[in-house]
Amino acid sequence: MRHLLNPLDFTIEELDELMDVAEDIRLNPAKYAESCKGKKLATLFYEPSTRTRLSFEAAMLNLGGSVLGFSSADSSSAAKGESVSDTLQTVSCYADICAMRHPKEGAPLVASRRSSIPVINAGDGGHQHPTQTLTDLLTIRSLKGRLDNLTIGLCGDLKFGRTVHSLINALVRYENVRFVLISPNELRIPDYTREEVLKKNNIPFKEVTQLEDAMPEVDILYMTRVQRERFFNEEEYIRMKDCYILSKDKMELAKDDMFILHPLPRVNEISVEVDDDPRAAYFRQVQYGVYIRMALILKLLEITV
Ligand code: NCD
Repeated sequence: MRHLLNPLDFTIEELDELMDVAEDIRLNPAKYAESCKGKKLATLFYEPSTRTRLSFEAAMLNLGGSVLGFSSADSSSAAKGESVSDTLQTVSCYADICAMRHPKEGAPLVASRRSSIPVINAGDGGHQHPTQTLTDLLTIRSLKGRLDNLTIGLCGDLKFGRTVHSLINALVRYENVRFVLISPNELRIPDYTREEVLKKNNIPFKEVTQLEDAMPEVDILYMTRVQRERFFNEEEYIRMKDCYILSKDKMELAKDDMFILHPLPRVNEISVEVDDDPRAAYFRQVQYGVYIRMALILKLLEITV
């Protein structure tokens, strides 16, 4: 039995196969409509979510399966002090697969050790968010036709943004990928990402503070929100929150075939006036998230269509 806890749990070949299935799902949805009939997905969300939880639910429903779960820690026995291990042993009796989001780094890993069903990490604290990464990879591959030979700009809260950490981890495995890391000094990528992931693998990258400087050279610009819930003090958050605002003017500096991604939710970091630009791909990215989660559920349940 396999889990998905980290984007590196799958080889590049497995990721390719997963993206091929997602692409086939996009083109032939009817073929998959009954493939999870009788199967249940449990969504265990101890932290707020809109897209991740609903896209998991939509994915399972599109496959003909059903869903159960909770959407906040207060409405589960976590409020009574139950451990994630005990919760998972219980949920294993009700469902065939589960997706867990938790504010503590490593909670899905701990849960998976006592689980008799596949566990999907749907975001653990400021650590990883592998299914967002699968979504991002599929989106980039669909828009650019490749995952190698790209300059990727990542902008905003690179310190606490788990989607950023996961995406860097995943992209360093492709040929000739370079990164432009755009953040205020206070929100730079964690040291372990810089040392253990980028430098160790000899990946070209630079760290800059001005978004304008990076615009002309990037093929993908991945915008992120400042992660308010991970700050120790509110004043610090307020000081940082509007550090970058992508506007129409700044878009003029970008290549014509560049694309903007964002894991969403957006707060202020992309002006709504940018939404009409054909290079704004963040709502298309949401749709890709459903296809890749459908492909992932099939893979972990070992169902071939
Ligand atoms: C992201 C997350 O939860 O890390 N949201 C998502 O799942 N699409 C990004 C964020 O909350 O900023």
